[in-house]
Parts: sequence; C-alpha cells; structure tokens
Amino acid sequence: MKKMMIVLGFAAFLGACGNQNNPPVTEPQPAADTNEATTANGNPSYDPNRGEGKFHDVVLPATLDGAMADKGQKIVELKCESCHKMTDEKLVGPGWKGVTSRHQPAWILNFITNTDAMIDKDPKAQAMLEICMVRMPNQNLSDDDARAVLEFMRKNDGIK
Ligand code: HEC
Repeated sequence: MKKMMIVLGFAAFLGACGNQNNPPVTEPQPAADTNEATTANGNPSYDPNRGEGKFHDVVLPATLDGAMADKGQKIVELKCESCHKMTDEKLVGPGWKGVTSRHQPAWILNFITNTDAMIDKDPKAQAMLEICMVRMPNQNLSDDDARAVLEFMRKNDGIK
C-alpha cells in the first residue's frame, strides 16, 4: 500500500511538472496493477498488451520527434548497445529491428522502466528470457529517458 502511494505520488509529480509542449505520457495506474503478489497466470487483470507499470494507453504522434530520438540515441549508446543491436540479430538481448511493431508503446515503456516485474510476469518477456538466458538488468531510466529511447526505436524502425 505504501509503495502504491509512492508510485501514484511520483506520477502526479511528473504530471505537474510536465513540459507544456510535450504532454506527459504517464497516468496514475489503477490500484489493482500495483499488487505485486499477483502473476500473469493467477491474475486475469494482467494486460499482456500493456504490461505492468505506470504507462497506460500511450498514444504516439504519427511523425518522429527528431530531437527526442537523438537524445534517445545517446542513452542507448550508453546503456543499451552493449546488449542490443539495431538489426534483427540477437546480441545478449533481442535485436531491436521491428521492436515497435512487436509491442505496444506502453508495453515498451513499462518494460524498460519496470523491467524486473515485467520479466517476472509477462509471457513475451518470459519467452525471451528462455531464448536469451540472461535477465535484462533494470537500467534506471527516468520516464523522459524511456520516452526518448522509444522515439529512437521508432526512428530505427523507419518512422519519419
Ligand atoms: C545486460 C544486457 C542488457 C542491457 C544492458 C539491456 N538489455 Fe534489454 N534485454 C536484454 C535481454 C536479455 C532481453 C530479453 C528479455 C529478458 O529475458 O530479460 C532484453 C529485452 C529487451 C526488450 C524487449 C525486446 C523485444 O524484442 O521484445 C526491450 C524493449 C529492451 N530490452 C530494451 C532495453 C533498453 C531500452 C536498454 C537500455 C536502456 C536495454 N534493454 C539494456 C538484455 C539487456
């Protein structure tokens, strides 16, 4: 319960401080999703399209935000490229080509900000774990960093 309050408080804080030109993509999550004891199998409320975390119903603009994608690329070079290639080739983790078609935007944002919980519960993440044999470590990305990384993934997938 205490943890839930912190999560909600954090999301509200981000909302309050969001850049006017860039409406925050976060929304407080319903209480049911913060129950960490539940699993994908035992929890019919788990939504495999969205995953688990603070991101819900993320709607992305049709066109690319180039500056945001550039910011994302710097983060990727620093924190992700040791394990992920931009092609469809596996390194330690899966290659990122087509990743934005394989998953909903909210799933990607939740996976990269709430990695441990998603690997524990998400069927697609668990299937990847079986193939990769390595658990992706949490990369401690802020919400803004995660959004920028997603923009870079969109660029890599040909969004202009
Ligand atoms: C130590 C290696 C490692 C690092 C560093 C890493 N990942 Fe991963 N990543 C993995 C592995 C392994 C998987 C497969 C899922 C699993 O079992 O953890 C994965 C899966 C993913 C997926 C799902 C891919 C798909 O094809 O469905 C995304 C998205 C992702 N990582 C994003 C990131 C981002 C963003 C960063 C950097 C901020 C990052 N990863 C850094 C190892 C890593």
